[in-house]
Amino acid sequence: MQFKTIIEPFRIKTVEPIRQTTRAEREVLLREAGYNLFLLKARDVLIDLLTDSGTGAMSSDQWAGMMLGDESYAGAASFYKFETAVRHITGFKHVIPTHQGRAAERILFGSLLKPGNLVPNNTHFDTTRANTEYRQAVALDIPVPEAHDPARILPFKGNIDLAALERTLAENPGNVPLAMITVTNNSGGGQPVSMANIRAASQICRQHGVLFFLDACRFAENAWFIKTRETGYAHKTPLDIAQEMFSYADGCTMSAKKDGMANIGGFLALNDDDLAQRCKNMLILTEGFPTYGGLAGYDLEAIAVGLDEVLHEDYLQYRIRSVAYLGDILTANGVPMVQPPGGHAIYIDALAMLPHIPQSDYPAWALSLVLYLEGGIRSVEIGSVMFGRQPDGSERPAAMELVRLAFPRRVYTQSHVDYLAEVILYVNSIKEQIGGVRLTAAPPVLRHFSARLEPVHGSLLRS
Ligand code: F0G
Repeated sequence: MQFKTIIEPFRIKTVEPIRQTTRAEREVLLREAGYNLFLLKARDVLIDLLTDSGTGAMSSDQWAGMMLGDESYAGAASFYKFETAVRHITGFKHVIPTHQGRAAERILFGSLLKPGNLVPNNTHFDTTRANTEYRQAVALDIPVPEAHDPARILPFKGNIDLAALERTLAENPGNVPLAMITVTNNSGGGQPVSMANIRAASQICRQHGVLFFLDACRFAENAWFIKTRETGYAHKTPLDIAQEMFSYADGCTMSAKKDGMANIGGFLALNDDDLAQRCKNMLILTEGFPTYGGLAGYDLEAIAVGLDEVLHEDYLQYRIRSVAYLGDILTANGVPMVQPPGGHAIYIDALAMLPHIPQSDYPAWALSLVLYLEGGIRSVEIGSVMFGRQPDGSERPAAMELVRLAFPRRVYTQSHVDYLAEVILYVNSIKEQIGGVRLTAAPPVLRHFSARLEPVHGSLLRS
């Protein structure tokens, strides 16, 4: 290639204004929201990096596809287009649409798990964990040990610990209905999983007669990392790589709100006929008939197109580079973060940045609040507010205290990222003033969505 600048591989046809607020306004808004960024109104957020889920911009082809939506209750043409797109990439026999990823999880686990079962995963995402625990099964996180060292730079820190997987299956015969690998490992810093690791995990599961599923939300980003980091894959297309990844699995759960490039949707895809029938029976109870699964025909169209676009090389190159661009600026300026940058997000290491805040005072949550206070940026805590409460009601600090800045797909431009970097570096320069927070009200499950908190010292920043 002649020129080295990686550009956004699109031009902008429709724009959506974003709104500046003052710091004084944000101080009030935070108090009113119970110091919980989930409880802010989106119009009060300048740059919204709460999640990359369902927040992407659709392409003109996707919008055009939506006009083709067949809204027939059963057997809609849009379903067959969707099914063909999913099968082309995953190769799975049964494709079951759901309204989003967690519905696929609930249906799969509801059909498969019994109380006391174990489900190993590199790292469960919060909804995956909650859906496992809701079935009174145990969600076991077994990432490779390096995953717990945020500063270590390794190509595939999302890998599952194969020895731990082997041990778990050997020691619990008959009690592990399935094992999963999450690509990329969202709760572990958006880190990719190597093809070698997926292949080996699959072999271990097959030897023990245990089903092996991928949580495939960010499969295309994972494929890009394999292409650029794993020996032997540089000349393969992202589609070839994705097909190989899925070939080792018995099925997958998927949130099309991520690498489906859609604003809503998901699916469960699998090979086993009997299990698929049981899942479809569950699907009809709460999601809908198996050819729409809680989605409109036009949603199925948007996903079918999105699944093709997400595997385009120019898109993936831009996507991974735009996240790494922020990571490079933060690293050059000494802001501790999970290294290397993840596929969809940067994860600031709040434990390393704010060593004066004990984990019991939720340093990552506090940092996410200060990023909003100072710059109108919304991020999300992946730490002890999200994961600290155990199923028995006890409290255990999370393995890491991270602030995730997740990039919506095709939404923000490079100057937005430059602004982000400026705000984060400013907050880093006043980090000694940041104080902790405490919970004042929280529900027992998935508490981060609705909990209310307050600053331990009366205000977020101490003078
Ligand atoms: N699995 C992973 C790895 C996820 O990241 C998510 C969602 C889900 C499953 C559930 O999918 O939202 O469609 O029901 N993650 C979003 C996030 C919410 O912000 O990371 P869903």
